[in-house]
Formats: sequence, structure tokens, C-alpha cells
Amino acid sequence: MLFFKKKKKETFSFMDIGLTADVHSHILPGVDDGSPNPEESLAILEECHRRGVRNVIFTPHVARAMFPNSAEALQARFAAFIPTLPETLRTEMRFHLASEYMVDEFFVTSPDRLCWPDGQHILIEMSYYERSREIRDEIFQLQLNGLKPVLAHPERYVFYQKAYDKKKGVAELEQFFEAGCQLQLNVMSLTGAYGEGSMAVLRWLLDHDMYSFIGTDVHSRRQMDHFDGLQITSAQLEKVRQLARNNETLFG
Ligand SMILES: [Fe+2]
Repeated sequence: MLFFKKKKKETFSFMDIGLTADVHSHILPGVDDGSPNPEESLAILEECHRRGVRNVIFTPHVARAMFPNSAEALQARFAAFIPTLPETLRTEMRFHLASEYMVDEFFVTSPDRLCWPDGQHILIEMSYYERSREIRDEIFQLQLNGLKPVLAHPERYVFYQKAYDKKKGVAELEQFFEAGCQLQLNVMSLTGAYGEGSMAVLRWLLDHDMYSFIGTDVHSRRQMDHFDGLQITSAQLEKVRQLARNNETLFG
């Protein structure tokens, strides 16, 4: 009788990613559904520091209906918040302010753009449940204006999970990718927290080298207790580690 030794399944942790630069976070206090106050923001940043993150981009939501944040107001909040941080964090970490823009019918009316620190990449999102009718045109318009759009967490949109095909992936995401819109993976998606549909899209995008960046999209300190137990293979982990290195290039 033949015995087959079952291969032990490896699980990886947040630290295995080697994330030193975070491009997507909701740490700026009191401006969106992320951190509600400076104490929570400090707790998140201390945990980021403990986990080896040294560069952090704050990307508060900008969405006319839910979070009508102007660039000016966010910049004022950011400028007031950073000096309140302990000296260790201020000397050992670098902070940058950008935004996560909701692409809906109001998006075109926003004249101000807060980009990632290279001054070119702009983080965009849409509703998880409803396809944005404007997104194709807006990606093109942003590019005409010399910007590089990055779609946040493509694996989280329910309509893409439904459209996923085992052989072809998600046709619409492929079109965005070919049109030069880059894709950003969420750390927590890797744990399976958003379900099998999300994992299927994520694995397909990883295996086909369609992601460019990775972010925590952290909203609370508590959420960070669920950043480990990554449901990916070691080959996929290598690709995720490359995304972490791509993040670093934005900071010069
Ligand atoms: Fe976000």
C-alpha cells in the first residue's frame, strides 16, 4: 500500500510581507469612518511602528455624499495632528497626506487632488455593491491630467466577485489594467476576511501579476489584530513581498 505524506500547509503573517511603507490608511482622526480620535490614531501608529512600518500615507475618504472633505480641511487637520505625536514616532516614521477618492457622479467636480508622495498616483474607489458608471471616463480623464489612477482593493467589490471566471478572471479589471489603471491589494483581504469570492479574485490577480501596490486600509487598532494568518501560497507571498517593495519606490 502506498502512503502519501500530506504536504503541510504553510500560513504566513503580516511580518512575512515586509511592509515598511503603507499607501492606504484611515488614521487621520475624526474625518471619515476610520480613527475617531487622536488616541486611537496614536494606538494604530504605535502598532504600525511595532510591525516595522516606517512610512505611512493617510488616505481619508473623500466622497461628496458621506465624507465631503476638502483638501484644505484635510491638510489643516493633518498639520495639527502630526505635532501631537510622540517624538519617537515623529523621528522614526514619515507621514504623508493623500486621499481615497470615491468615483461617483460628484467626482469630476472635485478640483483638488491629494496624491501619494510621488505627486502622481491617485487612489480611487467605488461603492462595494454598485459599479461606478463614471469610472472608465474618470480613469481616462485623470491620465489626461498627468495622473496615475490606482484602484483600491479590487478584490473587495462584490460585482467583480460575481463576475469572476476561473479561466478569464474579471474582464473589466483586465480592461482597467490594460488601460494603465493600477491595482492596490488590501492586507486584510489576504486573510480570507472578505470571503471566498474575494479570495478567488485576489488569487487570480496575484497569479497574473496585476497588482502594483499593497496597503493596510487600516480603520482601527482592533482591526490590526486580524492582519495575520494569510491564506496564500509561498509563491503568492513572494508576489506580495514585491508589492511591498513597489510601495517603497513612492517615497524616494
Ligand atoms: Fe480605504
